[in-house]
Amino acid sequence: MRVAVIQGGPSAEAEVSRSSAKGVSSALRNAGHEVQVVELTRGLAASLLDGAFDVAFPVTHGRLGEDGALQGLLEILGMPYVGSSVLAAALAMDKTAAKTAFRAAGLPLAADVVVHANDDLEASVDRVRRTLGEGVVVKPASQGSAIGITRVDHALEGAALRDAIAGALAFGDTVLCERFVRGREVTCAVVDVPSLDGLRACPPTEIFSKAAEWYDFASRYASGGSVHQCPARLPDHVTRAVQDAAGRAHRALGCRDLSRVDFVVGDGDDPDAVTVLEVNVLPGMTATSLYPEAAAAAGIPFDRLCDALVRNALDRASRDKTVAAIPLP
Ligand SMILES: Nc1ncnc2c1ncn2[C@@H]1O[C@H](COP(=O)(O)OP(=O)(O)O)[C@@H](O)[C@H]1O
Ligand SMILES: [Mg+2]
Repeated sequence: MRVAVIQGGPSAEAEVSRSSAKGVSSALRNAGHEVQVVELTRGLAASLLDGAFDVAFPVTHGRLGEDGALQGLLEILGMPYVGSSVLAAALAMDKTAAKTAFRAAGLPLAADVVVHANDDLEASVDRVRRTLGEGVVVKPASQGSAIGITRVDHALEGAALRDAIAGALAFGDTVLCERFVRGREVTCAVVDVPSLDGLRACPPTEIFSKAAEWYDFASRYASGGSVHQCPARLPDHVTRAVQDAAGRAHRALGCRDLSRVDFVVGDGDDPDAVTVLEVNVLPGMTATSLYPEAAAAAGIPFDRLCDALVRNALDRASRDKTVAAIPLP
């Protein structure tokens, strides 16, 4: 198959995407495919049309690449592609919209207060303090890689909370303030491909941050910034609860093919509590990334996974053609 691996884009995670694309490209070549890496730029549509590709594999993170925009372009081009389609990608990228869907599905979530740019800042700070108490995490609704996120340990004092909300508003009009859940950092890869036995949650991974007190940008990408353990050393019933919630979160957003669901496990004195944070529809795919490692722990080597993903995207497109699409001229 001729596969276009799409990388880059305007987000702060473009460099991560380029190293993810290296991992995916070499896995696809090992599986016998012909691969060309293309950049997510204004010239993307032309490169895709010129390349006579059978299928596209977006390996892009963050804005435009992971939020439904690229997926919309691929729909217009009529090009089969790996991963979630427009709605699921857009929902996952907006943490407040995603939580609405999670809540409807009955998933365990951190209590939150949503602040909008045109809300009165002082009134919002007050509302957050009253609702969420001393420990608060403030996040831009649509970002990734912990960018713009602040952990506020003394929210009741007000000043730090005000700065954190104002800081997060610099990244967009909506800010999600959540109760800080004190627990372990866990993530769970989901594989959802018929030829690989359908929807399955891989063994969860625990992440230990070294570069900082929590899993911030430096812990994620500085060399030695974090270490991870897969399968996580969790009691069996907690592992099952994480895997069950991961599958349900993936379904709640209508995701396809692959995703990685982030959690906090434990909540203060309760070590078994499971809290869903977010779903990543295009998780990191570098040689040392969490997703390929978890898939391998589930018995799916990365080459086989990437091969199954592109074949599945092509099959899906030929199935869909029979019911819908009249191709655009
Ligand atoms: N409610 C919360 N309680 C405790 N830690 C949190 C909470 N929300 C986020 N975090 C921490 O911040 C990190 C980033 O949050 P997340 O929602 O996964 O956003 P993203 O990964 O898109 O930046 C998490 O991995 C976790 O370490
Ligand atoms: Mg995350």
